[in-house]
Amino acid sequence: MDADALNFRLNCFPKLVYGVYPTPLQRLARLEKRVHGPTLWLKRDDGLGPAMGGNKGRKLEFLMADALNQGYRKVITFGGLQSNHARMTAAACAPLGLQPHLFFFAPRPPVLTGNLLFDQLLGAKLHFIPFGGQSSGDLTLEQTTRLVRWLARLLVGPGGYFMPVGGHTPLGCLGYVAAALELHQQAQTMGLPLDKTTIVTAAGTGGTLTGLLVGLSLLNSPLRLLGLDIGKLWRAFPDSLARLAGQICQLLGEYMVWRGRDIPLIQHRYAGPGYSQLDDPTRQAISLLAQQEGILLDPVYTGKAFAGMLDLIQQRYFTPAEHLIFLHTGGLPGLWAFPELVQ
Ligand SMILES: Cc1ncc(COP(=O)(O)O)c(C=O)c1O
Repeated sequence: MDADALNFRLNCFPKLVYGVYPTPLQRLARLEKRVHGPTLWLKRDDGLGPAMGGNKGRKLEFLMADALNQGYRKVITFGGLQSNHARMTAAACAPLGLQPHLFFFAPRPPVLTGNLLFDQLLGAKLHFIPFGGQSSGDLTLEQTTRLVRWLARLLVGPGGYFMPVGGHTPLGCLGYVAAALELHQQAQTMGLPLDKTTIVTAAGTGGTLTGLLVGLSLLNSPLRLLGLDIGKLWRAFPDSLARLAGQICQLLGEYMVWRGRDIPLIQHRYAGPGYSQLDDPTRQAISLLAQQEGILLDPVYTGKAFAGMLDLIQQRYFTPAEHLIFLHTGGLPGLWAFPELVQ
């Protein structure tokens, strides 16, 4: 499928706009000299709105339009205590007059910091359920979503638009199909060698990775893709992402069969002790980018994935002739919840 055809299909879905596109693709020249490896680029999706931005802006463009068109008055979602998706959903609800309900499977912290502070400022109803918190890979993503949907219906009542963790639906992931098209065209315009270029991204629920994968595949783009799991969160994760990829294709009117092994994901290796648990490589990666380029990463997603990318460069997984585009997916409010970053 060519770019115009994909663009046409994406335009069939109503959406709101939370960003100025294309987001910048910025060279990291100073860091490059330091790491002696491939040419490094940063794709600045951290600048997308609303409310201090991040990758969820692209997913919410489709999801909020859907909630609005179906006449919902409440939006329900869930995530970890420092969920950027929850914060951005709350922000997206405000100007539409919708009531956000955010579920967290943890006790209410004594002080609300980072994203939780913003959730409260944005007028969200916060539901703290003090059990089942640390998702440790016992359930699949789909099982988790079904359980929370049932619980939320029980607690909030009917009439809420339910969004799975991370906006992880085929419709939401169209945001990253569109991003694949954007990146393909942007890299081409900027003269990057597409067949020697890899996009690297953090994978939490994997929707960003899967949307990009579907977009690049439909375009037959030579751009490569690599997701780094930051949480060890789900059982049979690649299989869930393969199912999602098939559903996204279907939504776009294409039939493609995906298997778990088609998903370009490094699982577990760079997740450290677990989701939202800070480790030394992450701390060092955040400091390195901050001090070389004046750019901040977050401790839960981008810091971990960036640390993984730096390790892969060191292991010669990529050659110096290659180009890497690290997708900065945002998450900066999470920094305030990790004072231990600076010791
Ligand atoms: C800042 C940030 N980066 C990356 C991700 C991962 O995105 P996805 O859930 O689509 O894998 C998330 C959310 O999960 C996030 O909040």
